[in-house]
Amino acid sequence: MNEVLDAIFQRRAVKVFEPVEISDELREQILNAARHAPSSFNSQPYKFYWVQSAAKKAAVAKLCLGQKPAETASALVVAVADLGSLSATSQGQLEWMRRSNFNKEKIHDYERKAKIGRILFMPGPFGMFAAIKRAFFRLLNLRLVIGMPPLSRQDLLKWATKSTSLACQNLMIATEALGMNTCPMEGFDGRRLSHYLSLSGWHHDIVMVIAIGKKSHDHNEPPQWRRPLDATVTVL
Ligand SMILES: Cc1cc2nc3c(=O)[nH]c(=O)nc-3n(C[C@H](O)[C@H](O)[C@H](O)COP(=O)(O)O)c2cc1C
Repeated sequence: MNEVLDAIFQRRAVKVFEPVEISDELREQILNAARHAPSSFNSQPYKFYWVQSAAKKAAVAKLCLGQKPAETASALVVAVADLGSLSATSQGQLEWMRRSNFNKEKIHDYERKAKIGRILFMPGPFGMFAAIKRAFFRLLNLRLVIGMPPLSRQDLLKWATKSTSLACQNLMIATEALGMNTCPMEGFDGRRLSHYLSLSGWHHDIVMVIAIGKKSHDHNEPPQWRRPLDATVTVL
């Protein structure tokens, strides 16, 4: 068929892994594939914690409710939606544009968009700005065709979770293509895991934990069921 499609169709949520080591090179390839995923405004609003040391892996596996994929994985990746990196990211992109000799117009355009983004994405104390902005956009929407930007902290986390999830899928498909396997997990104690990783209660939200390893011979792969295409797709 095609190597990308092969990886997509072969990938399964693997429940038991063999104890194999993941080389630094492989780790880098997997994480590089993750960060090449598309993201809203190229904001890459996520952080990945790659947990590989035996003691830390055991601690994180326990916080993943002791699930078998977590306990047997060679590495655990905690994918975190991150609102705290937004201004550093836009600053980084701006510096990269200057270094790469983008013309003045493009740089100015980016600066302007980043400024608008900063204003739009600022929920303010107790989400106060969000309420004002929501009312403003609702009014505007009575007359104009406009999209509703993420306004509250909840909206922003949902917004960041979309891009984080795309990076997670890239990570899983790349891992499969590189001969290893994965299991995405949302069964974890978010409060304790956030505390363990010293995450910020305001800026961060754990989207999923991905167990990575080599599928064990003991892994009993159930048949894969999906809803029929016509149940999930409407062709207009
Ligand atoms: C967001 C998300 C959370 C999941 N959480 C868990 C989990 O906590 N434990 C687990 O064993 N599998 C988990 N899974 C794996 C699903 O059960 C699995 O993907 C689904 O049954 C389809 O099987 P397949 O991936 O092998 O096709 C999760 C998958 C996703 C996408």
